[in-house]
Amino acid sequence: MAGDPGTAPPRDTAAALLADARETVAEWIEEGIDAWEPLPSAAGTPAPTPEPAAAPGLDSPPASERFELRAEPAREAPSDLPGVAPWGADPTLEQVREELGDCQRCGLCEGRRQIVFGDGNPDADILFVGEGPGEQEDKSGLPFVGRAGELLTQMIEKGIEIPRSSVYICNIVKCRPPKNRTPLPPEVNACRPFLDGQIDAVKPKVIVALGKPATSLLLGRDVAITRIRGSWQEYRGIPLMPTLHPAYVLRQYTPENRRSVWEDLKSALARSRE
Ligand code: URA
Repeated sequence: MAGDPGTAPPRDTAAALLADARETVAEWIEEGIDAWEPLPSAAGTPAPTPEPAAAPGLDSPPASERFELRAEPAREAPSDLPGVAPWGADPTLEQVREELGDCQRCGLCEGRRQIVFGDGNPDADILFVGEGPGEQEDKSGLPFVGRAGELLTQMIEKGIEIPRSSVYICNIVKCRPPKNRTPLPPEVNACRPFLDGQIDAVKPKVIVALGKPATSLLLGRDVAITRIRGSWQEYRGIPLMPTLHPAYVLRQYTPENRRSVWEDLKSALARSRE
């Protein structure tokens, strides 16, 4: 009971619990979860397992389905691609795009207006990986052109002072998930060879993973983005910088978050020039 010296947790434990709770809430916010199902009011009805509910209209899947947790990054090709990607080890972006074709490999094809493959310099030193197209991207066919995209462009052009056209930008899935929900494992897995193909084609010196889904996918484990951001990782031998997704920064528009992304992008630029 609070205030009972016999049962109150020691101060250090309480501080650690509080820090964990803050981190968890930050992750929920990042995932777009900002509401809880009300507890049933009828007396005697058992309380549900405290699984966070999706924000209205977000159709968020249960946490257990959001990411496939694997010890190693998933590398298998979807069933219609042979074990070795048909474009070989040194593809061009055009070859990868051509193989993607009018993709029907997962259910996302049903709701999309168009495929959003990627955009930018095919020889870029820095390759950004986001989550999936939103409404504006679905309309235009280009990644990161909505509000989050505007912020990303500002961070690139004003923050680290390089033209957006000098980098390459793509997403882990190439079609818009319904209501912008987080892509599901079968969708991510179906698109995975094409993301790898893009990375093989561009051969960036540095990858910047934007937000939790992209970072978790590329590292092959579920990460807490607010903890891991700013620390160098590696994807298939390429230095990888995890940072906050611009949509998260828009929702949590604090000087601290803006500074964090700026610092991460500065590190990425410096590493790409080594
Ligand atoms: N968010 C993403 O992750 N990708 C986009 O292309 C746009 C918004």
